[in-house]
Amino acid sequence: MYPEARTADLVRDVLPEVDEISRKDLHDSVLEVWVRAWRSSAWQRLSDVPKSVDLPRRRTLAVHTRAVARMSAQMADTVAELHEVPVDRDAVLAIALLHDVCKIHEFEPAPGGGGQWSQVGRRFQHGFLGAHWMLEAGLDDDLVHAVIAHTPHSSVVPQTQEAVIVHYADFADSDVQLLDAGQRLFCKRRP
Ligand SMILES: [Fe+2]
Repeated sequence: MYPEARTADLVRDVLPEVDEISRKDLHDSVLEVWVRAWRSSAWQRLSDVPKSVDLPRRRTLAVHTRAVARMSAQMADTVAELHEVPVDRDAVLAIALLHDVCKIHEFEPAPGGGGQWSQVGRRFQHGFLGAHWMLEAGLDDDLVHAVIAHTPHSSVVPQTQEAVIVHYADFADSDVQLLDAGQRLFCKRRP
């Protein structure tokens, strides 16, 4: 598929949770970042990008991103209702949907199918590229911070409720998949 054919509508097909973002400017910016990342990547099909090169091939970045978006939105609703802690639900969705967009470049198609680490993936800290594209798209610092802080590789800890929620939703979904694959859980790793 030519890069020009990699459109926002195709991203919405793969990540339908994008349409849960109610603020149009934020909704469109999330799609803009995904399209920008996809068009400049080696991946023809967005749904082929792996969640991790160590997990079974059926564990994809798209489904992980969808799961983190749903979990994060549900966590935001729960803490807002039961703890009366204000959480920006649209921001939570945007952070969740963008937290791993950098993997489109950190991984590249492997010769035998599936994915492998790219040179960019080996050289840039996880999260950096997504944050860079978010700044280019004009997204605000709170959202960029949350993407930078979501990973245990970051020296920055989450400093907003939205960043905390996505951080743990990502860990939860990742550990569910790691446990299923018989691998070491994130919660048992130390940076
Ligand atoms: Fe993730």
